[in-house]
Amino acid sequence: MAKLLIRGGTPLKGMVNISGAKNSALPIIVAACLADGESILENIPQDIDVYTISLILRELGAEIWFDEKKRLHVIPDGLERYQASYDLVRKMRASFYVTGLLLARLGKAEVPLPGGCALGSRPVDYHLKGFQSLGAKINIEHGFVKAEADELMGSKIYINRSSVGTTINLMLAASRAKGTTILENAAKEPEVVDLAIYLNSMGARIRGAGTDVIRIDGVDTLKGTEYGIIADRIEAGTFIVACGITNGELVLGNVVPEHLRSTILKCEEAGLEIEEGTNTLRVRSTGRPLSVDLETAPYPGFPTDLQQPFAAMMSIADGTSIIRETIFDRFRYVDELRRMGADIRVDRDTAIIRGVSELTGAQVEATDLRAGAALVLAALAAKGETEISGVELVDRGYEHLDVKLRQLGADIERIPDGEEDTFEEYLEGPLLESLSKMGR
Ligand code: UD1
Repeated sequence: MAKLLIRGGTPLKGMVNISGAKNSALPIIVAACLADGESILENIPQDIDVYTISLILRELGAEIWFDEKKRLHVIPDGLERYQASYDLVRKMRASFYVTGLLLARLGKAEVPLPGGCALGSRPVDYHLKGFQSLGAKINIEHGFVKAEADELMGSKIYINRSSVGTTINLMLAASRAKGTTILENAAKEPEVVDLAIYLNSMGARIRGAGTDVIRIDGVDTLKGTEYGIIADRIEAGTFIVACGITNGELVLGNVVPEHLRSTILKCEEAGLEIEEGTNTLRVRSTGRPLSVDLETAPYPGFPTDLQQPFAAMMSIADGTSIIRETIFDRFRYVDELRRMGADIRVDRDTAIIRGVSELTGAQVEATDLRAGAALVLAALAAKGETEISGVELVDRGYEHLDVKLRQLGADIERIPDGEEDTFEEYLEGPLLESLSKMGR
């Protein structure tokens, strides 16, 4: 596994452009495969999850490549296989979106139960229940979900708990079903809205995305189109916190400030000064962060994906913070932060963080994507050198995080695993070629 070596203590300064949203890119690349003809997608981040979904879809028969302008081309016309490979799907939970795609496109799907970050139990029961409501027959055999439907039929579906993945998977399946589907208690995340806008631009008829009731009038065909996806609010939030934890001064470009409302408010409560432009944020931190209590919640609440980075900032705050995690089991980073001197006690879903005046560098391991980001931020603030292993997990969801931080003045070095470049281990064929054309 590759490592990052970070020598902390340098305030971050400068301008950073935020990449396209990973959690929009993944369903939108899958949705492109529902259409006839080519889609050209802009602002797609080059992170490992994007490559993984592209490889899965290529194995199923789609053509996918990046051009030299960094636009992703998707031609789904040859997508005829319905069995997704275990080796790829197990890497990432969002790969389960191919189930909705395959059911809608081929009427048949065999997809392994997905993997993803180690965040406790993350079942797909809501997805399966939804597919059944649309008329699919579902069996689980040898770790595979086998789903079949001669024709998907629109239906009224109540999603037990606001679930992003379920909302997306059912939107994908229902967009080409016969009749109308109503999703109640749907997720309201900006990535759900982005997917709906893209699907509608291809000819789908989806109303209400962004509210908790989404109506989907099924259509027979969708046509490929050009589309630019939204900015990554989680990457933006990570840089805001990076600014706070290092006492820095940053301008974030290519952001959608409205998508960051809860994050901005909590960071202001922690003492950061944040000025909003149309698609920029100017962030300044002038002293030790203040302690803040928070609870994660579905959008527009504080995102669970920023809980760990925010907790890293709270570990050096002036005072005690209480952080409650309501979505996932996401406290595995705590042991690693403790190695760096943090004073954190976890009681079931709540972390009680007593801010210390200083963290110290240590050898630590990224246990999941956002935990890895939290350790990177802690290391930027810590005294001395931190060695973070398991960096591939960070690469899953951040486009060149180390490169961007270095450009802002961070003392950060990547130690590749042997001779291999970490990205190249995951790539092959046209994706690798198009990437190397871009000089990576
Ligand atoms: C998505 C995001 C992830 C984010 C999460 C919550 C992507 C690729 N990932 O994950 O970054 O942290 O939303 O905002 O977009 N649940 C079930 N059964 C199901 C489905 C979900 O019990 O069938 C539970 C989950 O365990 C969790 C909650 O519902 O406790 C919400 O999960 P969900 O919104 O579905 O998360 P993901 O789509 O996996």
